[in-house]
Amino acid sequence: PMKRLTVPAIAGRKGGEPIVMLTAYTARMAQLLDPHCDMLLVGDSLGQVIYGLPSTLQVTLDMMIAHGAAVVRGSYHSVVIIDMPFGSYEKSPEQAFESAARIMAETGAAGVKLEGGEAMAATVAFLTHRGIPVVGHVGLTPQAVNVLGGYGARGRSDEEQAQIIDDARAIADAGAFALVVEGVVETLARAVTDDVRCPVIGIGASNACDGQVLVIDDMLGMFERTARFVKRYDDLATRISSAAETYAGEVRSRAFPTAAETYAPK
Ligand code: KIV
Ligand code: NA
Repeated sequence: PMKRLTVPAIAGRKGGEPIVMLTAYTARMAQLLDPHCDMLLVGDSLGQVIYGLPSTLQVTLDMMIAHGAAVVRGSYHSVVIIDMPFGSYEKSPEQAFESAARIMAETGAAGVKLEGGEAMAATVAFLTHRGIPVVGHVGLTPQAVNVLGGYGARGRSDEEQAQIIDDARAIADAGAFALVVEGVVETLARAVTDDVRCPVIGIGASNACDGQVLVIDDMLGMFERTARFVKRYDDLATRISSAAETYAGEVRSRAFPTAAETYAPK
């Protein structure tokens, strides 16, 4: 198998070949995505995607660790990053270190991702200086949905643009090796990408970034409704539903199983 990429190798991709990132939550999906990706993100989006929760706020450290370990076991090539869930890091750098150390020790991931700007810069530096690579996440930060008032695009006013640029710079200067920028207008995505030293990975943040990330279930067409920025590369929801419908019909009509699927005596 391919050798696993490293955090410094990703950090060195600034302005170079675009970084390919997808989310993954399970071992088999990680196995399928791994050869095609540079990074796999065990996103706290698993709250909605896997658990049917209303937001990421209900996601726990134990959930992230269970799925993170599965994705590490299923991958050989990509740098695996695990989201720090809401409530596991915001209180202090020490709290963040305790949570991140558990994630690193119990999953074997390469690093963690956390949401926030200037207020989280000291925490990013604290983790980085203690051996934990950090990916930042600014712009639309879903854990702050109750403060932001929704999941709409960020940076539409000059004031908000300036704040997000300050946030991005603070997190990059604190030592983040990459930065996710979510849900921002193209001018802002370009400004952030030009401004910070680390690679910027966009989601709903235009083609101006150093790489792209999407939620795997979104890009596979598992949901009826997704954000404007999601491109569907398949329509798995329709295909799964159709497979289940065909199976149900064949069970009810006794068309399945046939002799081919039946054990016969020797
Ligand atoms: O949780 C997640 O999937 C994420 C990506 C959308 C960046 O944070
Ligand atoms: Na996330």
